[in-house]
Amino acid sequence: MNTQTLNWISYGWIGIALIVHVTMFYIKAPFGRHTTEKWGLTINNKLGWFIMELPSLGIMIYFLITGTQSFTSYVWILFSVWIFHYLNRTIIFPIRIKSTPKKIPLAIVSSAIFFNFINAGLNGYYLAEMSTAEQYSFEWLTSIHFIIGATLFVIGMFINWKSDSILISLRKEGETGYKIPKGFLFHYISSPNLFGEIIEWLGFALMAWNLPGLTFMVWTCANLIPRAKNHHDWYLNNFQDYPKDRKIVFPFLY
Ligand SMILES: NC(=O)c1ccc[n+]([C@@H]2O[C@H](COP(=O)([O-])OP(=O)(O)OC[C@H]3O[C@@H](n4cnc5c(N)ncnc54)[C@H](OP(=O)(O)O)[C@@H]3O)[C@@H](O)[C@H]2O)c1
Repeated sequence: MNTQTLNWISYGWIGIALIVHVTMFYIKAPFGRHTTEKWGLTINNKLGWFIMELPSLGIMIYFLITGTQSFTSYVWILFSVWIFHYLNRTIIFPIRIKSTPKKIPLAIVSSAIFFNFINAGLNGYYLAEMSTAEQYSFEWLTSIHFIIGATLFVIGMFINWKSDSILISLRKEGETGYKIPKGFLFHYISSPNLFGEIIEWLGFALMAWNLPGLTFMVWTCANLIPRAKNHHDWYLNNFQDYPKDRKIVFPFLY
């Protein structure tokens, strides 16, 4: 693939993200608290998470091992942080979430596989086959966008993991219902886990400083901002005592 082709695929993919973004405010992705029987065949929730996130992990490992540029520069740092994130999302997160009778529609698993295939494919291919040793040299490591990006990535990952942990610990073994989360950034927003994930991929885009990295950040926002809005509305509809001053996903803003 040449640079022009990759750029056009990325621009087209960003265009689709914008359409999906608007649509998701009206059609809730039916997993977790928004699960419904209307979306056809369903599978075990933990298995669903593992299967749908596996392409993001596997594709990056594949490109790291086989790519012509993977070890000729500091580009392995970008592969490593991506793989580190997806080791949690693919393996650790599904093990940690509490088992409930809830299932996940195959339609969601399939669309997530497609989404992860394109995003990891674009990023992995670019880093492995199209980047240059000059691009990810020692100077890159000392650039302002790398330093800010790496800081944001680490902060975002901490917020995401800590918030997911708080949510997971709300249920005691055997419980299946929902409670109002409190403490940490839940004081300000309904979905700090999604906020952390957005900050993480903003950080990655700044570190990577390339079009596929930006494309993935746009997709993350396109997915997670409406999902956070759906979560927030769900809390307000289901808990009369839900804190009214809590924002949706961006502290003090939205
Ligand atoms: N990069 C992306 O585009 C993307 C897309 C989707 C998700 N993600 C990431 O995947 C993770 C999960 O996302 P999500 O939207 O499914 O998160 P979520 O709805 O906040 O759920 C996270 C876990 O906590 C449980 N939980 C949530 N709220 C609870 C409450 N009030 N009381 C008791 N248990 C509660 C959920 O159980 P239930 O499953 O039973 O609701 C689930 O096991 C997040 O870290 C997110 O950033 C990333």
